[in-house]
Amino acid sequence: MTVPPLFEIEDLHVSADGNEILKGVDLTILPGETHALMGPNGSGKSTLASALLGSPDYEVTGGTIRFKGEDITSWGPDDRGKAGVFLAFQYPQAIPGVSVINFLRQALSARKGIDLSVLELRLAIMEWMGRLDMDPAFADRYLNEGFSGGEKKRNEILQMAILEPEVAILDETDSGLDIDALRVVAQGGGGWLDFV
Ligand SMILES: Nc1ncnc2c1ncn2[C@@H]1O[C@H](COP(=O)(O)OP(=O)(O)O)[C@@H](O)[C@H]1O
Ligand SMILES: [Mg+2]
Repeated sequence: MTVPPLFEIEDLHVSADGNEILKGVDLTILPGETHALMGPNGSGKSTLASALLGSPDYEVTGGTIRFKGEDITSWGPDDRGKAGVFLAFQYPQAIPGVSVINFLRQALSARKGIDLSVLELRLAIMEWMGRLDMDPAFADRYLNEGFSGGEKKRNEILQMAILEPEVAILDETDSGLDIDALRVVAQGGGGWLDFV
């Protein structure tokens, strides 16, 4: 029996506000592979990342996105996330009123269908925060509110680590980081990152 590719993008066309931005992208990702997409500003990297997660800001006008052999092109972002596709945003949004730990608790429950106790989740988060060199006080701060650029990027990696996606798309997770933060983030996620 042949195993389908983990992720397959075929002739993908994507528009925003009526402008065609992606004009036929093909990419096949096998389990364990890491792909780096490079291109100048405005070449469509973030558009591709958003379209792969089903952002309502972008319209797929042609082509197919398959995850483990299944056509997910028409799936909503929540179903893609629950299935194990993850996006670390280039510009993570702040959500005032929602703490980092509560956000992760809800997301993990949706993703894995398990309700970790507050204590279990806190322990898991603390362990990862230690690896990412984050102050434990971040667990109780509102998501990304007042975070510096580098703190937001670390928090994206924290989310990835806790949610254990099958495919992680990291949109310029390295940009805006100083050299120490870059080392911490790279090591924190090291060993199991599949990124586009
Ligand atoms: N919502 C949108 N409406 C109109 N144009 C957009 C929208 N989002 C992105 N674009 C345009 O698409 C192009 C690609 O942008 P982007 O995907 O952010 O590039 P990159 O991430 O490679 O720097 C840019 O020219 C940008 O202005
Ligand atoms: Mg971008």
